[in-house]
Amino acid sequence: MLEVNDLSLHYGQSQILYDVTLDAPTGQITAVMGNNGVGKTSLLKAVAGRHPFSGGKVHASGVSVGSGSAVRSARAGIAYVPQGREIFPMMTVLENLETGFALLPRDARTIDEDIFELFPVLSDMRTRRGGDLSGGQQQQLAIARALITRPGVLLLDEPTEGIQPNVIQQIGACLRLLRDRGDMAIVLVEQNADFAYDIGDRFVMIEGGRVRRRAEKSRYSRDQMLEDLAL
Ligand SMILES: Nc1ncnc2c1ncn2[C@@H]1O[C@H](COP(=O)(O)OP(=O)(O)O)[C@@H](O)[C@H]1O
Ligand SMILES: [Mg+2]
Repeated sequence: MLEVNDLSLHYGQSQILYDVTLDAPTGQITAVMGNNGVGKTSLLKAVAGRHPFSGGKVHASGVSVGSGSAVRSARAGIAYVPQGREIFPMMTVLENLETGFALLPRDARTIDEDIFELFPVLSDMRTRRGGDLSGGQQQQLAIARALITRPGVLLLDEPTEGIQPNVIQQIGACLRLLRDRGDMAIVLVEQNADFAYDIGDRFVMIEGGRVRRRAEKSRYSRDQMLEDLAL
């Protein structure tokens, strides 16, 4: 499980996140939502150690993650699928997956066969270059690469952005499967409200760098969510 307490973050002099507190339990999908520019990506970057935070604490499965260290964050079991996917276009699918090995001990550097069961299209394309894949395939590759470390916390930043509806369905099915295995806390940042409401178990609404609302799905209607997003 992931716990974020009173997190603040700055870029230079400008403060972007203010006392953000949220938890993401194992076996559930926690959807973090909010309009453009409210700080969702910054929050994930802080948790993933890609940008230092200026105050607060992050724990994954009880392990303190500290600020600004991608290695410590990964060792605490956190994996990150960045917005825009960031796969390596000149490397093959297999090589892209193998970049996930860097943080694993040598004897753990194998690709579990269940990764290819989750994403059969990657199995068929093992030797293709990342840059030759469609946007949807690249997104699946980015998720698969994050799973290589067998994380306890999976962070995804707008995985449906710019992706065709049929692939969005596949990604949704895959995230449900991972959730239902019951050994991973999934944090999903989304602007696609329908998708997020459909697969989310819990919702955290961000506005102006602050948490405006936290809600369990059973107590939070789709209409209320849309109203909170002022769509
Ligand atoms: N590297 C950066 N340097 C300075 N400002 C940034 C940087 N990255 C993002 N910002 C600003 O921080 C705010 C939050 O951005 P971001 O976390 O990307 O929001 P979101 O993901 O919710 O759209 C925005 O105002 C954005 O312009
Ligand atoms: Mg963003």
